[in-house]
Amino acid sequence: TTVALLFGGRSGEHGISCVTAGGILAAIDRDRFDVLAIGITREGAWVHVSDDPSDWTLVDGRAPEVASEGAEVLLPSTRRQPGGRSELRTVVEGAVRPLAEIDVVFPVLHGTYGEDGTVQGLLELLDIPYVGSGVLASATCMDKAATKQSLGAAGIECAPGITVHEDRWAAGAGEVMDHLERHHPLPWFVKPARGGSSLGVSRVSDPAELEAAMKTAFAEDPKVLIEESVIGREVECGVLQGGDGFEARTTVPGEVRVGEDLDFYDYEAKYFGKGTVSIDVPASLPDAQLEEVREVAARAFSVLGLEGLARVDVFVTDDHRVVVNEVNTMPGFTPYSMFPVLWQNMGLSYADLITDLVEQARG
Ligand code: DAL
Ligand code: MG
Repeated sequence: TTVALLFGGRSGEHGISCVTAGGILAAIDRDRFDVLAIGITREGAWVHVSDDPSDWTLVDGRAPEVASEGAEVLLPSTRRQPGGRSELRTVVEGAVRPLAEIDVVFPVLHGTYGEDGTVQGLLELLDIPYVGSGVLASATCMDKAATKQSLGAAGIECAPGITVHEDRWAAGAGEVMDHLERHHPLPWFVKPARGGSSLGVSRVSDPAELEAAMKTAFAEDPKVLIEESVIGREVECGVLQGGDGFEARTTVPGEVRVGEDLDFYDYEAKYFGKGTVSIDVPASLPDAQLEEVREVAARAFSVLGLEGLARVDVFVTDDHRVVVNEVNTMPGFTPYSMFPVLWQNMGLSYADLITDLVEQARG
């Protein structure tokens, strides 16, 4: 079986995707799978790159990047034959050459043009099997406003708030502000609708800070959410697709604990060691609450029509409500990331988790 590992990409989470790829390249069972490493540059070019994991690690606190030097990868121009493989080609000195035949794509892409249904749509057109959710579920979960609508319709609680488009804000920031002050108690979280890894997210504890926070969020996306802050424990649950006709498999949840020195679990805290953060696996919550989180996560997986894998992030409030914060269809996937660690705690090693996902995708 040949797996094309697709990473990097046109999103603010490019570097995180590369680090995730490094983890997978180091751990994937090479007796079982041949691996073709395909990087996508920040500009969107697909290139054949090194499959040496040491080329894709954090160095001196800097995330690696896909350079455009590699040989360009051409996509198949016809659908694969039923049960067949897909041939990828490349261009060497102006001539088109065969590169490899692949069986499955593992798109370890985070954020826009990767986790949002676009690459999934391309792979559907090409009829290439791939790991993870399909077009609609990926697109829905990329957009935090759409996710809330789908979950809300199924009676799953999310943080109260509003969605504001950039032109609406430009036309009447005062009205938006009045509405917020009347209906939503401070502090507020301001988030790009289609962002990831907390890029562009701010915590606003004084209405005077809102203008700047909106500007930061609009730099990522013209659609922005302003939400009430949910007071509670920040808990994350790993989900894997079940076998045919079976319920999704969930992990015992873990907890992210953020020290007083941080406003919230932001980008620098997530990846670059800013502030005090501890990850507890399992979360130290009563069994009944751990169970409740798992049930909500499995329901969210089903309601959203997810496939393959997901990490469902929730808050557990003091009065024991489970409020979904977001759903990631391609969660951070380094060996130290929450998702693999949650599965390790369930007895599924990092390497076996990768095998599970690839085998599932092959069907
Ligand atoms: N969007 C990042 C990768 C995560 O949620 O893990
Ligand atoms: Mg995220």
